[in-house]
Amino acid sequence: MALTHADELKRLAAVAAVAEVPEDIFLGIGTGSTVNFFIDALVQSGKRIRGAVSSSEASTERLRRYGIPVLDATELDTVPLYVDGADEIDPDFAMIKGGGGALTREKIVAAMAERFVCICDERKLVERLGRFPLPLEVIPMAERLVSRRLRELGGEPRRRLGFVTDNGNAILDVHGLVIDDPDALETALNDLPGVVTNGIFAHRRADVLLLGTGEGVQRRE
Ligand code: 5RP
Repeated sequence: MALTHADELKRLAAVAAVAEVPEDIFLGIGTGSTVNFFIDALVQSGKRIRGAVSSSEASTERLRRYGIPVLDATELDTVPLYVDGADEIDPDFAMIKGGGGALTREKIVAAMAERFVCICDERKLVERLGRFPLPLEVIPMAERLVSRRLRELGGEPRRRLGFVTDNGNAILDVHGLVIDDPDALETALNDLPGVVTNGIFAHRRADVLLLGTGEGVQRRE
């Protein structure tokens, strides 16, 4: 199947990320189309890793298809490196994630990681987070309560229809939130009863950004 221009830029960033991976490590693996390119490129490179800690059933399936051992996150204290995409990333490397609904496990594996390499195409780099609707994973019984609180904060939550997370919960996609202070909003949203995880990754932001652009890959640190 022919790749779109955006896919081609994702693939460029993903291929560049292989050079960031030391041999023989346990590697944290994110979720999404950019990460799929990364898994494929890692395998094609022939670089050996000891195993992976995965952030979703989808990534686990892809890793296992290639014969890469997938460990449970409870088997390790840390991973040296986590590679994942983002829906938006700002110049200080705070991100919105969760477009694929895997935000909770992504946040857990990112928090375990000594280093977080974010791989994106150039459309994802924004001056200020918030144009992409912010995903929140919510315990189903709290959906109405959390929605009301989100409206008080100026957002417009919409239930992601026909979608259940790997943890059995609902996703609310919140439109229209002003995210001037990603750290503070991440904390405030974590505080709402029934919110499992919100898609702001500011407390644990990326350390390195590999950005696929029309002129090649930009590496920012
Ligand atoms: C999944 C994510 C992804 O990293 C994000 O949605 C980007 O996806 P893609 O690489 O397909 O553009 O957070 O929950």
